[in-house]
Amino acid sequence: MTNLLYDVTQGIATVSVNRPEKMNALNIDTILQIGLAIDTALADESVCGIVLTGVGDKAFVAGADIAEFANYTSAQGKLLSASGHSVFNKIEQSKKPVIAAINGFALGGGCELAMACHFRIASNNAKLGQPEVNLGILPGYGGTQRLVQLIGKGKAMEMLMTGDMISADEALALGLVNYVTTLEELLPKAHSILNKIASKGPVAIGLVIECVNAVYDGTKDGFAMEIEAFGNCMESEDFKEGTSAFLEKRKANFVGR
Ligand code: COA
Repeated sequence: MTNLLYDVTQGIATVSVNRPEKMNALNIDTILQIGLAIDTALADESVCGIVLTGVGDKAFVAGADIAEFANYTSAQGKLLSASGHSVFNKIEQSKKPVIAAINGFALGGGCELAMACHFRIASNNAKLGQPEVNLGILPGYGGTQRLVQLIGKGKAMEMLMTGDMISADEALALGLVNYVTTLEELLPKAHSILNKIASKGPVAIGLVIECVNAVYDGTKDGFAMEIEAFGNCMESEDFKEGTSAFLEKRKANFVGR
């Protein structure tokens, strides 16, 4: 994975976009490699959570690689956008939690990548935005949809039409990120949240993700899904273990089945 660093430490996979000389801009190879890294983390039983971040202290990801698509035809543009959608949907639908650790610029496709994660934390030097209109284009990796879902229509319309960047603190106030930390504290904070999630029942965590995502999927009835999931959980080993541990006043040891 030439454009990525992939590391698993104590059950947490860290996927770092590694093109710092290009502000970690996402060319198509990098997008596909992110998809492969997510597949690898999902298939690895030792991994309980994933952090997505960027190498260096300037950029998470400063957008799609402008040089790569500058001369694209309409058909090539649609293919690129569809490829991005497919990988970003995979992140959103991952049964293992995925946190974006935004360590600098998260612009265009970078903001969209962060928004595809289950939630986001940012260092205080981060800047987020959807500046595509400056280039005469619009977001192509789900930004027009997920930004509205996360911060509401009015603010999303403003960000999408002005192309303005916002600070980490503004993103926090809008609910676009959950926490703002120093750069040094960013990855430790992501790890500490993932460690807490890792101590819960993995079957239930996967179902929480699925049911929450259903809110935004017009083809699904999230309430019906929740009823189904709640009932199915009761026959899982995790539920037996969780309830036994509570009644026996000990810490649960979940197996993820
Ligand atoms: N695509 C391709 N290359 C990019 C890039 C992108 N999205 N963002 C940055 N780069 C490259 C620059 O071209 C430059 O390469 P060079 O040294 O070969 O000229 C290098 O990364 C460093 O960027 P630079 O602009 O010199 O850094 P800066 O600190 O002055 O500004 C940004 C940083 C992020 C504000 C600025 O690079 C920028 O506006 N990038 C584009 C953001 C964008 O429009 N994203 C949406 C794309 S659809």
